[in-house]
Amino acid sequence: MTKASDKDTSHWDDYWRHGFLTSCADTFDGNYQGKLRQVWEEFFRSAKGNATILDIGTGNGAIALIASRISSELQRGFLVHAIDQAEIDPPAMVKANADGLAAIRFHAKTPAEACGLPDNSVDMVSGQYALEYTPLAETIAELARVCAPGARLLFVMHHAGSVVLETAAEELRLGELLENSGFFDHAADLLRRMSKVPAAQAHLLSKDPATEESREQLNRSASELSSLASQTPHPQILQNALKSVSDCFRQQRALGPEVLPLLAQYRRQLEANLARLHDLQNAAVSERQGKELIALFKTQGFLTEPLVDIYHEQELLAGRILRASLPASA
Ligand SMILES: C[S@@+](CC[C@H](N)C(=O)[O-])C[C@H]1O[C@@H](n2cnc3c(N)ncnc32)[C@H](O)[C@@H]1O
Repeated sequence: MTKASDKDTSHWDDYWRHGFLTSCADTFDGNYQGKLRQVWEEFFRSAKGNATILDIGTGNGAIALIASRISSELQRGFLVHAIDQAEIDPPAMVKANADGLAAIRFHAKTPAEACGLPDNSVDMVSGQYALEYTPLAETIAELARVCAPGARLLFVMHHAGSVVLETAAEELRLGELLENSGFFDHAADLLRRMSKVPAAQAHLLSKDPATEESREQLNRSASELSSLASQTPHPQILQNALKSVSDCFRQQRALGPEVLPLLAQYRRQLEANLARLHDLQNAAVSERQGKELIALFKTQGFLTEPLVDIYHEQELLAGRILRASLPASA
């Protein structure tokens, strides 16, 4: 089995380091709201006093935080473990919710398939956009090991037919075109040439054929990307790339050669974004995969309910819900 430390989680490490509470920071300003939140509140309200709760793929702890809030509101004394294979540190990274986050036991670099908690110690398991990212057979076997008799589990998973997935597919297509256009390489080449020349001699660059060729290549790819951006309903990836490069040119005089690490940083952020979209695309659960997932839970002795779709406001398909439980006595 791959250990978390062997896996490249940098695209998630970076995201959580920015301090977003959820993985859908574009949609939710703060924590999950609406129907999604309601589902989790009902789930945690139904937990017994002093329950041990395990939130897998927790990110910056959005779902664990809902459990922790309910515990303090209803004085239930939950022990909330929140794990992620990425390098997370929510109490240090997230600005709001300090008290709620401080009450949660976060475990960074901890994969769901080897969470390290004792046998039969967990009463409730939660995971939002989480289980489907993990190696399913191993994770479900691990959950069977750590769950106590009568444990209940709830997962909200990406739906293969949702708008989120359609958007991700389009953004990945545009990301590939962006990569193939050589836009960032052309920008780096021109910035490197400009940075070698002192400001007083910058006007001479327009007489250097190699620099002019580099400028033309960059302009050609920029205009191709602008045209692509005007033809797609999801231009954000392209717009961000254009904006990042134009920011580097704006700052070139002031930064000199130091503009190159800035460009490299913008490029890494964009690549990390695409890597997360790839993860999302691989994780999304289709009808067939949903059935396979249920079969895996049954193999490990869990009782399951049929999958149900969950809609966010304005009838936006937000995921598939899977509920499972262990019989009260083994
Ligand atoms: C889409 S995010 C969801 C985060 C959070 N549950 C939320 O809803 O905001 C998926 C998370 O799963 C984590 N992850 C992926 N594979 C994992 C694994 N095998 N074990 C634990 N966490 C994993 C990623 O690092 C990432 O933080």
